[in-house]
Amino acid sequence: MTTFFHYPNKELQEELICIARALVTPGKGILTVDESTAVCGRYLQSIGLENTEENRRNYRQLLFTSEAKIAENISGVLLFHETLYQKTDDGVPFVEVLRKKGIIPGIKVDKSCVPLFGSEDEYTTQGLDDLATRCAQYKKEGCDFAKWRCALRISKNTPSHQAIIENANVLARYASICQSQRLVPIIEVEIIPNGDHDMDRAQKVMETVLSALYKSLHDHHIFLEGTLLRPNMVTAGKDSNKTNIPQEIAMATVLAIRRTVPPAVPGVMFLSGGMSEEESSVNLHAINNVPLCKPWALSFAFGRSMQASVLKCWSGRKDNVQNAQIELIKRAKANSLASIGKYVAGSVESVAANEKLFAESIDY
Ligand SMILES: *[C@@H]1O[C@H](CO)[C@@H](O)[C@H](O)[C@H]1NC(C)=O
Ligand SMILES: *[C@@H]1O[C@H](CO)[C@@H](O)[C@H](O)[C@H]1NC(C)=O
Repeated sequence: MTTFFHYPNKELQEELICIARALVTPGKGILTVDESTAVCGRYLQSIGLENTEENRRNYRQLLFTSEAKIAENISGVLLFHETLYQKTDDGVPFVEVLRKKGIIPGIKVDKSCVPLFGSEDEYTTQGLDDLATRCAQYKKEGCDFAKWRCALRISKNTPSHQAIIENANVLARYASICQSQRLVPIIEVEIIPNGDHDMDRAQKVMETVLSALYKSLHDHHIFLEGTLLRPNMVTAGKDSNKTNIPQEIAMATVLAIRRTVPPAVPGVMFLSGGMSEEESSVNLHAINNVPLCKPWALSFAFGRSMQASVLKCWSGRKDNVQNAQIELIKRAKANSLASIGKYVAGSVESVAANEKLFAESIDY
C-alpha cells in the first residue's frame, strides 16, 4: 500500500478551506509586512529613522490603524514575529486591531535562506526545527495563515536539480506542518529577477520549478484546497536590458501557472519582487485579463510595492500619519481593482508610484 494516506479529517479540511477562501475573496489580497528587523531597518533608514523597536512599532501601527474600509480591499496581513506581539499606543495588540477590522493575521515562519554548500550561489530555507510548536503558538495568538519563502536564481547553470528538489521538499514539509496546526500555508517560491536571461527562459524555469513543487506537495499529501501559492511574475532578467510590456508578462505568467498549478489550489497571490507600485498593479491587471481559463483567484500579496508611497509620505512625522494612511488605502484600492482585472493604468496617483524597488540581496 505505497499510496496509503489519510487526508486531514473533515473538520480540519473545512477550516483550512474556509481560511483560504476568505483570503482570496474577490477584490481582496494580502498586505505583507513580514520584513525582518534588518529589512524593516533599511526601510526606516531610507526616511532617516533609526532602526529601533519603537520606530518599527510606530511604522506598523500606522499601517494597521488605517481606516477600517481598507478591509474591503485587504483580506489578510502577514506579520513578522516581533510585530505579532506589539501593541498600539493605547495598548491594543495589533492582532486585535486587525481582527476587529475583519482582516486575517498571518505570520512568517521561515528562518531565512541559507547557502547550499557547493552550489553556484544557491539557497535553501531553514526553520523546520520546532516549527510545529511555533505554529501551534501562532494559531493560539490569533494567526490563521503562514508564509515560508524559498528563492531560486537563474544563471547559466542554475537553478540546479539540487536546489529545485531541495526547495520543493522543504516547502512541502513546511506546508504539511502548517496544516497539522490549522494554519493555511502560503507557499512562496521566488525566482529572483536578477540576471540577463530572457523571458522565455524565465517562463521555462518557472514551469520546471513549479512542477517539481507540486510533485513534492503531492508526495507529502498536502491538502491543496487549503494552500495558497505566492510566486513571482514571469519577466526577463533585470540585467537583460529588455522591458516586457504588461501583456507579455501576463501571458507568460498565466501560461506557466496553467501548466503546473492544479485547479484545486484556490489562489495565486503574486509577490511584486522589485516592481514599482504602479508596475505591479498594471501587471496584475493584465494577468487577470489574459483570455484563457484561469481556475484560481489571481491576486496580490505585495509588500514593498504597497509601502513605498506610505513610507515616503510619512517620513517619520506624526503630522503625516493620516496622509500616509491614505497612500496605503490608495494602493490597496488599485491592487483590488487589478485583482479583478479592472485597474486603469495611472488612475491611482501615489507619491512613489514609479520608483523601482529592487532589493540588494537574495535574503530580505
Ligand atoms: C475596495 O474598497 C473600496 C472602499 O474603499 C470599495 O468601494 C471597493 O468596492 C473595493 N474594491 C473591490 C474590487 O471590491
Ligand atoms: C545591458 O546594458 C549594459 C550597459 O549598456 C551592458 O553593459 C550589458 O552588456 C547589457 N546586457 C545585455 C544582456 O545585453
